[in-house]
Amino acid sequence: MKTIIEPFKIKVIEPIKMTTKAERKKIIKNASYNPFNLRAEDVIIDLLTDSGTSAMSAKQWAGIAEGDESYAGARSFYRFEETIKNITNFKNIIPTHQGRAAEKILFSTLVEEGQIVPNNSHFDTTRANVEFRGAEALDLLCSEGKDPSLDAPFKGNMDTTKLEKLLKKESKKKIPLVMLTVTNNANGGQPVSMENIKEVKKICKKFHIPLFLDACRFAENAYFIKLREKGYARKKVFTIVKEMFSYADGCTMSAKKDAIVNIGGFLAMNDNELANNCRNLLILTEGFPTYGGMAGRDMEAIAQGLMEVMEEDYLQYRIQSNKYLGEHLTKIGIPIVQPPGGHAIYIDAGNFLSHIPRNQYPGWALSIELYIEGGIRTCEMGSVVFAKKNEKTGEEIPPELELVRLAIPRRVYTQSHIDYVIEVMEQIWKKRKQIQGMRITYEPKTLRHFTAKFDYVR
Ligand code: F0G
Repeated sequence: MKTIIEPFKIKVIEPIKMTTKAERKKIIKNASYNPFNLRAEDVIIDLLTDSGTSAMSAKQWAGIAEGDESYAGARSFYRFEETIKNITNFKNIIPTHQGRAAEKILFSTLVEEGQIVPNNSHFDTTRANVEFRGAEALDLLCSEGKDPSLDAPFKGNMDTTKLEKLLKKESKKKIPLVMLTVTNNANGGQPVSMENIKEVKKICKKFHIPLFLDACRFAENAYFIKLREKGYARKKVFTIVKEMFSYADGCTMSAKKDAIVNIGGFLAMNDNELANNCRNLLILTEGFPTYGGMAGRDMEAIAQGLMEVMEEDYLQYRIQSNKYLGEHLTKIGIPIVQPPGGHAIYIDAGNFLSHIPRNQYPGWALSIELYIEGGIRTCEMGSVVFAKKNEKTGEEIPPELELVRLAIPRRVYTQSHIDYVIEVMEQIWKKRKQIQGMRITYEPKTLRHFTAKFDYVR
């Protein structure tokens, strides 16, 4: 088989400022060893997130020029609404400025104190928005999903036995909705099978509870279904996507992922009364229901991006390039969450740097080394981000896994950029025993990873 090439040509470029290792040592020290403090221009390859970092197409930029900026009833809103209705079949489409705004509005309308919201795995903003309502965000991940080295096709699935047990035990009043995140970002970007979506819906229907998709990466999930699930190989991605949404009663969406734009989102649902309540809140916090926190031009770019993301040449390249990175790292011997997910590779830093104890933050140390060695910015998803603290003793309880995420922006980097990342990783792998642990010299009370300061343990 021939190389799967990027199915686009480059028309506009953004130069990368090259730095030396000596310069980067100084830069990261001045940033208190926190990659969030770096100026983006001091980064060579930025794999911090795939959210809002995509490159738009010529047609999307043309849409930007076409944007109708009328306050009410803009033409751009109707194009946006029609496109989303065509894909999801939901009756009500509510624009928001990004994903977490859709979550905030939905949960403020639907979720009350003391309730439980089950999900395969909550993304952190989803969890925070559920908890902000005084409710419990409950993860019901399937058992295969919990073993990072296991190679299974749908490790993002929900454990439906546990879901059914929960719904049987709790009254309908206690569970306002069930959510499914496709793909499962908090668990390695692993996909959810159509069979699982169907089964979750069946259980929800039995107990009269609505099912909402967290649909950020719906197209990547659909492509995995096409590749891995029996009966879908010959179906068009568009058909698979429509089937996925047909089992849900609504969705939240961050357009910053699978709508290939830099800002935007939406909330969609069939229930008219719920939608009206959401719209009333939308007016209070986001804007009028035909723009909801976006400019007309943003809605044009989303409408175009939502169709482009389902093009199969694009998806083949997208999933293949992530797999390419994952397979090369595996060949070197680097432990990663298997199999490679849709939008990112997750390095098992606990194993990579097994000589560094968990309370010396091996994941953070690896992300700092990636910056120093190659100017690559990544995101720790381990003890700094997720550790729980014992309030009495101050002792930190690390999460199960110590991961570093290499998230790949859409249509931004070419194969040689990825080859460079692989080379840098290999260099670090060879000298891994020399890498030192880190300590925190300052931390705020909440969400410490964004502003904490670090130094090496010496
Ligand atoms: N749901 C999932 C599954 C996400 O991955 C994100 C964002 C959101 C909701 C919230 O959307 O950022 O538009 O408000 N994930 C980004 C990331 C930030 O880096 O994974 P948002």
